Order: sequence, then structure tokens, then C-alpha cells
Amino acid sequence: MDWDAFFTVHRHLPREGPGLAEDVAWAGRLSAVPANGRVCDAGCGPGSDLAALRQLVPDGRVDGFETVAHFVEDATKRFAGDPLVRISQGSMEHLTGPYDLIWSAGAVYFLGVTRALNAWRGALTETGAVAFSHPCLFTDAPSEAALAFWEAEPGGIGPETATRAEIAGAGWQVLDTRPLSDAAWTAYYDPMQARCDKLETAGTSVAVAAAIAAARKEASDWRAVARETGYMLYVVRPA
Ligand SMILES: C[S@@+](CC[C@H](N)C(=O)[O-])C[C@H]1O[C@@H](n2cnc3c(N)ncnc32)[C@H](O)[C@@H]1O
Repeated sequence: MDWDAFFTVHRHLPREGPGLAEDVAWAGRLSAVPANGRVCDAGCGPGSDLAALRQLVPDGRVDGFETVAHFVEDATKRFAGDPLVRISQGSMEHLTGPYDLIWSAGAVYFLGVTRALNAWRGALTETGAVAFSHPCLFTDAPSEAALAFWEAEPGGIGPETATRAEIAGAGWQVLDTRPLSDAAWTAYYDPMQARCDKLETAGTSVAVAAAIAAARKEASDWRAVARETGYMLYVVRPA
């Protein structure tokens, strides 16, 4: 993987994975976050969900944690005028909190479910919850293409029951789950395709052309397997 080329494509995008503001609102309602609460966006990317999280806590505070410097820069710029949103460059594994909600869109699989939940148990308030979206097989008989879709990502891919077993094994209970919609995926892929168009118009190196081809292939592969696999959103609390 040529990371420079990859991040040339994955730059200045509104989001780095599927998701919608309504997913954040749903998780916020389920976990009953107080208006003056404290919320964390673990693996916040370019700040995709910070505005929706901010709406959950109009009298509270939102902290974003992200390892990639230019995502931290983009997110910081987006919320420069809001002193109640604070973005830090650092690992989401070392949160202190205490948080009423730890939100993590498409980032938990970098650590693994058990490791993330073990790390976050001590960073929640007494009634705090974790909401995370995670790769999921929607069928017991996935095609080769559905399995291949996640090949480049860390960790294995399984059905919701497997993730529920991991959650229970870590000593947590599931409040509810729901799959991310097609609109959540196009909210990620449409701006990425527009970015690819723009880079191509400007002229690219061979490496960036390859990263563009990979990005376009991912978007079209998703369309082909969207009924078999995607992201499930889990809202969980220590049992
Ligand atoms: C698929 S992207 C999703 C970003 C964002 N949540 C969104 O939905 O647009 C996953 C993000 O998690 C970040 N990440 C991975 N491991 C991390 C860690 N240990 N601490 C903080 N961020 C991490 C990656 O850099 C990446 O920005």
C-alpha cells in the first residue's frame, strides 16, 4: 500500500467511512446522553460525526481522538469556533473520560471488539454507553466477493451473532443494534468519487492513479455485495 497515494485520495473528505447524523441521534437516544454530558468520538477521522455528537450535548462537551495528523488538522479546522469540541492526536485506546457516550464509527476493528471494550470500561460514567459500527455479514452463506470486500481490513468478519458473543464475553450487554443504511454508505462514497474525479482532472502520478482505481473499485464492490455485508451499529453498556 502506497500510503501517500492513499491519503492523497483520502484527504479533505467529509467522512472516512459510512454513517449519517441520524445514526448518531439514534445511539444518543438509546444511551440517554444528558444535554450537559461528555461524549467522545474514538477514531474521529476528519470530524465526520462531531456536529451530530455536539447536538446530543448542547450544554456539554465533545472530545475527538484520532491518530492520523491530517485528519486531526481537518477536524480541528471544522470546529475551530467551538471551544466545547476538542480534538487530540492520540490513540483511542487510552481514554480517561469519564464519558456518557463513547462513539466510534468504523474504528473499533483496528483494536478488536474485546480490546476496545476492555479499554473503555473505565472511561465511562456510571450510566455511560459505547456505540460503534462494525463490519458484519448479513447472511450465513456469503459469496467470495462479500468476504473479499473486507480482505484489506484488520480483524476477521463475522455475523452479528459473533460480535454479540464477543461483546457478552467482554462482560457487556447490547442495548440495540441496527444496520447502516445504503444512504450511510453513499454519504462516504459519493464525495470520495467526486474527489477522484477532481484529482484525475488535475492530473495524477501513477501511484495516485492506482489509489483512485482502488477507491473506485471499493465503491463498486460495495454496491455488488451490499445485501450480504455492511456495517452493524451496536449500542452497548457494561453488564
Ligand atoms: C474507517 S475510518 C472512520 C473515521 C470516522 N469515524 C468516520 O466515520 O468518518 C477509521 C479511523 O480510525 C482511526 N484510528 C484507527 N486506530 C486508531 C486508534 N488506535 N486511535 C485513534 N484513531 C484510530 C483511523 O486513523 C481512521 O481515521
